[in-house]
Amino acid sequence: MDRFTRKFEAAPVAFNFDDVLLLPGLSEKRPRDISLSTRFSSSITISAPICSSPMDTVTEAEMAIAMAECGGIGVVHRNCTPEEEVAMLRKVKEARPKSETATLGRDKKLAVAAAVSPFDLERAAALSEYADALMTDVAHFHTKATIEATKKLIKATDRDVIIGSMGTKEGVLHCVRELERVAGLRCGIGGGSICITTDVTKAGSPTLFAVSQAADALEELGLDIPIIADGGIRGPGDISLAFAFGASSAMLGYGLAGTDESPGERVSIDGKEYKGYRGMGSRAARERRAIVDRYADTGGKKLDEGVDAYIPYKGAVPAVMEHLSSGIRASIGYAGAVSVAEMRDKARVARILARTQKAHLTYKE
Ligand code: XMP
Repeated sequence: MDRFTRKFEAAPVAFNFDDVLLLPGLSEKRPRDISLSTRFSSSITISAPICSSPMDTVTEAEMAIAMAECGGIGVVHRNCTPEEEVAMLRKVKEARPKSETATLGRDKKLAVAAAVSPFDLERAAALSEYADALMTDVAHFHTKATIEATKKLIKATDRDVIIGSMGTKEGVLHCVRELERVAGLRCGIGGGSICITTDVTKAGSPTLFAVSQAADALEELGLDIPIIADGGIRGPGDISLAFAFGASSAMLGYGLAGTDESPGERVSIDGKEYKGYRGMGSRAARERRAIVDRYADTGGKKLDEGVDAYIPYKGAVPAVMEHLSSGIRASIGYAGAVSVAEMRDKARVARILARTQKAHLTYKE
């Protein structure tokens, strides 16, 4: 009875970053003694829990080198020919690791991951020579065709294969049961700053909710697969919240696109500095893909799912990463945990009904 009206009652609440806060907990370490070491994928450990998104205005060789140097990792984009993507990986592998905390692959060179279409086995084979991990770069991974293609991809490479994007517990249960060797899950659909997927289609899974769904699925299966929170992350607090709900690391697009190391030139508009940042589903990015990627078939979709924008210039990656890391340490400390992993069990959250407005201030300067 009333089965349609009941759909409202059965609807889960898809919480996201602005709906909850970390509650302060008993802290046993000073922020600087808190460890940010975590896993990006089954076999790759990072000392800073952040990766850069495979987007053509975010991660090419220069960004991947900077990210690995800072203890994170970059995922190079695939909006180029296979030869160009391989060349980016080679450039990363040719760079000399400088810092002690740099993320290294099993070859003892800077670690790097590469985005790939699961339907493109030829490109995957070429990338596997250099990449430490491959990431399926699919907006909606939970489709029969994608799962079947990824079975072949996993057989064809000895590298870690990270799948995504994922948004529901059912999706993760299904995909992880079907696939033999999943080394990571990229979670969150439609939550990116440049995404308009959810506006256009009314479909999506907010990042924090998607992470919690994936973590519950893995717990049910008794599996320990690293989860990457992806989309809409604005600062260290959002990243720490993602850890509380089961993520091991966070993927940033907006947060890194405005840096010196992202592709593209700085532009000056009305005396302020900007860099370009565009969604990979934006018309401009899709037009480029149609030229360079013969697997660009979108299943008949002719839809703009992202926008093309300018965002404020923010300096160099090391400073941005330092700022994020110290913020994450502070946040973990407030929550009463001592590491990324401990946030899963220790961090408690409170739901927010309405944000209390603070008194208005006029800042000096
Ligand atoms: P942020 O918020 O960090 O998000 O800029 C980056 C993530 O957004 C996703 N992405 C897209 N999603 N249409 C979408 O719906 C797009 O055109 C698009 N481009 C990127 C992707 O998951 C990325 O990591």
